[in-house]
Amino acid sequence: MPTAIIVGSQWGDEGKGKFVDYFAKNTDAVVRFQGGANAGHTLIVNGKKIVLHLIPSGILHDKTQCFIGSGVVIDLFELKNEMEMVKAAGYSIAPERFKIAGQATLVLPFHRELDAARESKHHLGTTKRGIGPAYEDRASRRALLFQDLFSPQLKERLQLLAEEKNSLFEHLYNIPKINIDALYKKLIDIAEYFRPYLMENMSYVLNTWAKEKKNILFEGAQGTLLDIMHGSYPFVTSSSTISTSACLSTGLAPQQVNKVIGIAKAYCTRVGEGPFPTELKNEVGEHLRKEGAEFGATTGRPRRCGWLDLVALKYSVRVNGITSLVLTKLDVLNSFETIKICTHYKINGQETDAFSTSSSLMVEPIYKELKGWNSRINDCRKMDDLPREAREYVQFIEREVGVPIDVVSVGPDRVESIGMTSLF
Ligand code: IMP
Repeated sequence: MPTAIIVGSQWGDEGKGKFVDYFAKNTDAVVRFQGGANAGHTLIVNGKKIVLHLIPSGILHDKTQCFIGSGVVIDLFELKNEMEMVKAAGYSIAPERFKIAGQATLVLPFHRELDAARESKHHLGTTKRGIGPAYEDRASRRALLFQDLFSPQLKERLQLLAEEKNSLFEHLYNIPKINIDALYKKLIDIAEYFRPYLMENMSYVLNTWAKEKKNILFEGAQGTLLDIMHGSYPFVTSSSTISTSACLSTGLAPQQVNKVIGIAKAYCTRVGEGPFPTELKNEVGEHLRKEGAEFGATTGRPRRCGWLDLVALKYSVRVNGITSLVLTKLDVLNSFETIKICTHYKINGQETDAFSTSSSLMVEPIYKELKGWNSRINDCRKMDDLPREAREYVQFIEREVGVPIDVVSVGPDRVESIGMTSLF
């Protein structure tokens, strides 16, 4: 059963894209399973940067098939631009190797407008990419699916969806109504571009391939603490970001899952609103932001920064069933005399290492202070090359969370990595 799921184990932006690309080399397929163009997966290969929002991060390996699963919400206009960008960068996006599940949900332009209108009334810090409104429509059974683009009922289904929105736009949000005819025409025009990419039987293909022992990598977006069910609700995204979502969102049978790889940054960041116990609203946080270039790949927003939170990470290991971790951006900590790690929270005077997703809970982080290595580690390529303090930092995390750290990342490029090179 050579299947592995890669998930973000914090609040997103852990560096999943780099490691999906890194592990995709010997992989038959990479399947993106949830989220939409709210994600920004940055890949750097030979100094060249590519930012992907919807296309799986396996696309730079020409023998790897790339699939977008049913749980993803797709903005077709954005995806077309991304496909053209990938092609222009010299990579194949041919229908023989890139497929989209017919059951995936469409994000339409008015979903973005609704997301933005809601943000202006009630601020959650969303990416304004229409993600929440699109998932809402999916749950209300009015959404357009990717396969509807090719259906004779497209206009009828669009009307059903848009007419209700128009009433909301006019009476509640005071934003221009949807021109249904114009949008229908745009969808019909773009449908021809996408027709060769339709896959109607993704769960059949994935389960058959898993049984045939093909190597399949499932790529998550965002992070565990943004999960709609297990994150810090309501400050979450609108999909399930945890490992079980890979099955839910693609139709892979759970017993086919063989490994769950958690990507964790060596410190923490968060964009948008919501609780963040180890946040540093001071010059240390500024320093982390500057050293880590912590600005959103999708929105450009400055990310909130803080020390590594092991209470949150243990929770993530638990709810995802993480079998091993990849620790990213260790090099961002190069210039600290001392480094803090949160090992416990104090809640109502009581110490605990049990994470709570309650957004209203006031938690005080309790830290362990470790000596920093205060030197450049970016050229290290083996664990033994790392300074003793950096190795101790890694080992401390492993001991506390109880799973091995198989790879450490010491820079953004694919080659700036230490440890295991293949998952299968
Ligand atoms: P939405 O997913 O755009 O609805 O945003 C909901 C929350 O998830 C906001 O706090 C966003 O900043 C956050 N979010 C969404 N996508 C990402 C991501 O890829 N990385 C980090 N945070 C994200």
